[in-house]
Order: sequence, then C-alpha cells, then structure tokens
Amino acid sequence: MGHVWRVEAVDDWTMTPDSDQPRTTDEPLGTKEKFWVNAPDESRYLFKYARVRHGRTMGEDWVEWAVHELATMLSVPTATAIPALHGGRRGVLSLSVLAPGDRLIHGNELLARADPEYDSQVARQNPRYTVEAVHNALRGVAAPSDCQPPVLTAFDAWASFLMLDAWVAGRDRHHENWAAIEHAGKLRLAPSFDHGNALGFQEPESKVQALAEAGESVARWARRGRSHHFGDKPGLVHLASTALNLAGDEVREYWLGKLADVTNHDIESVLANVPSDYLSEAGRTFRVKLLHLNRERILHGD
Ligand SMILES: Nc1ncnc2c1ncn2[C@@H]1O[C@H](COP(=O)(O)OP(=O)(O)O)[C@@H](O)[C@H]1O
Ligand SMILES: [Mg+2]
Repeated sequence: MGHVWRVEAVDDWTMTPDSDQPRTTDEPLGTKEKFWVNAPDESRYLFKYARVRHGRTMGEDWVEWAVHELATMLSVPTATAIPALHGGRRGVLSLSVLAPGDRLIHGNELLARADPEYDSQVARQNPRYTVEAVHNALRGVAAPSDCQPPVLTAFDAWASFLMLDAWVAGRDRHHENWAAIEHAGKLRLAPSFDHGNALGFQEPESKVQALAEAGESVARWARRGRSHHFGDKPGLVHLASTALNLAGDEVREYWLGKLADVTNHDIESVLANVPSDYLSEAGRTFRVKLLHLNRERILHGD
C-alpha cells in the first residue's frame, strides 16, 4: 500500500470559487483559511491552511493526511488528503468527493428533514444530535459507492466513521462534518472528510514529550476524548460502540475485524512517512501508543 508523503505546491494551480457558496465579500480567494483549487489535471481540491498559534504551526495538515491513510487500511471511505503548500504556508488538500452535477447535503440538513424540531444551527451539544437520530436521518440513503457487503446502507458506513474517530481520537464529528451526495435525485453517503482535528494535533511539544515518555498516562489522555457535538457529550469509544451496535452484528463484526487486522507495524509505517519537521520523534511515539491503545479499547472494551 501507498502511504506516500509528497507535498504539492499549489501556487500555480487555478483558484476557483466554491460553486455551492458563491462569494459574498470582496475578499480575494486565497486570503481565507481555505479555498477551492483545480490541479493541472483538472481535479478539484479544497485547500485548508494548517493553523498557526503562538508562532507554531499545528498539525492539522499531517494529521488529515495520516487519518486518510489509516482509514484506507480499514476500508473506511474518506476524501483523499495530500499535504500541500500555498505561498510557503502549510496546508492540506482534500480531493473533492463530488462529480459534476453532484450536490452535498450536510448532516444537519438530513437531520432536520427527518426531525422537524432538529436545530440545524446548533453544532455543540445539540440535544437532538444522537446516534439514533442519525440512524433515522439516513434511512433510505445508500452507502458510499465503494463499500462492499455487508456494508449496504449509509448508516452501516457512518458507523465506521465513528469507529475511525474513536481510533484516531477525532473529536470533530459535528453535523456538518459528514454529508450525503445527491446525484440524479438519489442520495448516498459521502466519504468522510475533515479529519485534521485528531491525534492530539494541538498538543504542544512539551506535552507530547511527556506523553511519549510515559511521564504522563496516554490512557488518561485518551479517556478524556469526548465529542462535544452529540447531546450527552459521549466518550469517543462509547459513541463508536453505540453506532456499531445499532448497525447490527454482521456490520459491527465486519468493521471490528478490519480494525483487528491492523498491526502496529502498519500504524508505524504510516507515521514513519511524515517528515521530522512535521512530526518529532516524540510526536511519533505518542501517536503510535495512542493508536495502539485506542484500538484495544475499541476491540476489547474500554
Ligand atoms: N473532499 C471534499 N469534497 C467535497 N466537499 C468538501 C470536501 N471537504 C470538505 N468539503 C466541504 O467543505 C466544507 C469545509 O471543509 P472541512 O474539511 O469540513 O473544513 P473546516 O475545517 O473548515 O470545517 C465541508 O463542510 C464540506 O461542505
Ligand atoms: Mg468541517
């Protein structure tokens, strides 16, 4: 398998307005935190800058790349992510999941269609944003196009998004970070996207050092991982198991089997490709420990 790390410089690529959301301000494209861009081969990408805090570039770019690679090992459909530079600034490219004529319908819109009382404007601790509500909202929606039996419905695949989140400590599964694709009047779940908020991307190096050296417990760090978007702020592993259980025995065993098949060597080989100016040795050690631990928590109970 690939895991190739190659940074694309997009300075000469063609910036294009987002066809879904025409620009309303005079702000030139590219000065924002993200913009759509066409590669020379005409494929379309969303470029997102990695954020800089206190002079330090946080790791959303390499994390989004790594999560896509890890998800691919599980057959969890995710948008392809490529590390990139724009004007010398670090970022990540997310390959559009849309073909011409497709339209993205976000989770909040699907939830509001299924539940008239659903407040699609409340992204944090939305009391009506529950696994059961998503199950209802995805009724009649097909799985992403590259899924195999027993993964037949959108919810069968959506459950794997939550398993992925629990594995990589992804805390950003709010109702606009998943969607359906509408094509010729039919709906199917879109591959998962927006994975930069994971793997402790925001932790400063001093903290990373402590976690790598077992000066601080990775288990304690991991157990604090909750989703602040779902109504009752569930722990990520609990959330994943709720979704897998609701998907049914066959689908749950299929996804857990995929995770069980991943070896520590597989995990290390993904992280080994991230260069040291993006990810320190301690940073790598911490993430290997974290992925190993979360895998055990998902497979064998928390
Ligand atoms: N690969 C993709 N294909 C199509 N649309 C996408 C893709 N990635 C993101 N989007 C759209 O762009 C929006 C913002 O992108 P996202 O990755 O969620 O970044 P942010 O960190 O700004 O939330 C998403 O909510 C979705 O509507
Ligand atoms: Mg998002």
